[in-house]
Amino acid sequence: MVLRYYIGALVLLVSFLAPKGVSSNSNAIIPSTNVITEEPEFTDVIENVTVPAGRNVKLACSVKNLGSYKVAWMHFEQSAILTVHNHVITRNPRISVTHDKHDKFKTWFLHIANVQEEDKGRYMCQINTVTAKTQFGYVHVVVPPNIDDSLSSSDIIVRENSNVTLKCRAHGSPHPTIKWKRDDNSKININRSTSVYDWDGEMLEITKISRLDMGAYLCIASNTVPPSVSKRIKVSVDFSPMLQIPHQLVGVPLNFNVTLECFTEAHPTSLNYWTREDGHMIHDSKKYKTEQSVGVPSYRTHMRLTIYNVQHSDYGTVKCVAKNPRGETDGTIRLYLSTPPTNSPASTVENFKDWSDIRSDINANNTIINGQIHSNSVHVSEKNIKHISNINDIDRFEQKSSEKKLNWPIEESKANYVNKIENVLLGMILFLGLMIQQRIILTN
Ligand SMILES: *[C@@H]1O[C@H](CO)[C@@H](O)[C@H](O)[C@H]1NC(C)=O
Ligand SMILES: *[C@@H]1O[C@H](CO)[C@@H](O)[C@H](O)[C@H]1NC(C)=O
Ligand SMILES: *[C@@H]1O[C@H](CO)[C@@H](O)[C@H](O)[C@H]1NC(C)=O
Ligand SMILES: *[C@@H]1O[C@H](CO)[C@@H](O)[C@H](O)[C@H]1NC(C)=O
Ligand SMILES: *[C@@H]1O[C@H](CO)[C@@H](O)[C@H](O)[C@H]1NC(C)=O
Repeated sequence: MVLRYYIGALVLLVSFLAPKGVSSNSNAIIPSTNVITEEPEFTDVIENVTVPAGRNVKLACSVKNLGSYKVAWMHFEQSAILTVHNHVITRNPRISVTHDKHDKFKTWFLHIANVQEEDKGRYMCQINTVTAKTQFGYVHVVVPPNIDDSLSSSDIIVRENSNVTLKCRAHGSPHPTIKWKRDDNSKININRSTSVYDWDGEMLEITKISRLDMGAYLCIASNTVPPSVSKRIKVSVDFSPMLQIPHQLVGVPLNFNVTLECFTEAHPTSLNYWTREDGHMIHDSKKYKTEQSVGVPSYRTHMRLTIYNVQHSDYGTVKCVAKNPRGETDGTIRLYLSTPPTNSPASTVENFKDWSDIRSDINANNTIINGQIHSNSVHVSEKNIKHISNINDIDRFEQKSSEKKLNWPIEESKANYVNKIENVLLGMILFLGLMIQQRIILTN
């Protein structure tokens, strides 16, 4: 209806603009000579154009026998008269009109500079014959995708086991599609049963997020118009510290050095330290060396405490402690006196098929371990330290610290295990008379 109004206006306008001598209500043609003049006609269709925003575009309307009629350009959807003949009617400064004269044929060009998305649509070229002649051409304006930060997620910190929804909103023309990926190309764990490399859609919902889901996520918006764009969203998963202790009972002879280990997992990174039995924090000194190395993933830490020249006062318990804003945990390692090695050859070797290996291993460092191996469960290491895992202790430890089972690589996995159940006198200080199940771990 609005269009009709405009077209009506156009007819008036064209009449007004028409040179004198052409009657506005004449029947089609006013022959100025006796030659029969043909009606104006379009000689070609208007080509449709697809153009990225920001470019200039030109539409061509080719006409023959125009005579003193006029050609007008209109935007159909906007019901706007853009140009009439050589005049620009619209106030849009980006519109202009030119024409090209070839004999009887004329081409009228509509120019749109710096095309914008709102310029898209149907353009009409019209001749003001009594029954107006029109033809159409389409302008498709494409716009590369653009992510709207204000409507999209930014970096977040969440608690482990919470549900997380990441959002990504983009615009562009055609409307962009959104795909999610992890920055390191690992799978996205949507829930317990679904893991995918890519997720399509504006929303990415992760149910019961775990520490393994921590990292950067990419939302990628694309719509066939290059370039695609992406946004990187960092997801931090916080949880209270956990500990894993490979050896909770460690036998060491007097005057030897011993290194104790704890593995922690925590996010944010925990403050890790060692304490003595009396609760005092252990600091680096001639007596102690503490070391800490970041694992993979980076929420893992390997803590080591070396005690030099072990004395009687060193036997007992040592604790490793990990604290972060989400909580704290500690684990206990017991150090007991084990029999020192002697330089005499082993007296009982028949139980051990690979004893020769052990001996050569030991000989290489000029420190020989002997006799007590045959009856005790001992981890023979290069430092002559016994590592014994007391099953009861481990159970207790796991109940205390773990919501989740840790899978730390433990060096002993490569070693041979020999199970024995024996009555063992485990030194003077600890476990006197205890019956415990033990393991013999023989290093290669
Ligand atoms: C332009 O597009 C319209 C609609 O999509 C179509 O009907 C018309 O034939 C096209 N014109 C040309 C010249 O391709
Ligand atoms: C997380 O989502 C699951 C499945 O939709 C639902 O059962 C659970 O209650 C939600 N948890 C929270 C904390 O909203
Ligand atoms: C896991 O997510 C997928 C995809 O959204 C869904 O089809 C499926 O029902 C979900 N499974 C569970 C157990 O929630
Ligand atoms: C203990 O470590 C110190 C310093 O590294 C070293 O000098 C000493 O020989 C070690 N003692 C034993 C018994 O290995
Ligand atoms: C002997 O000790 C050295 C240095 O302390 C160590 O690198 C090496 O692995 C040890 N050799 C054996 C066979 O244990």
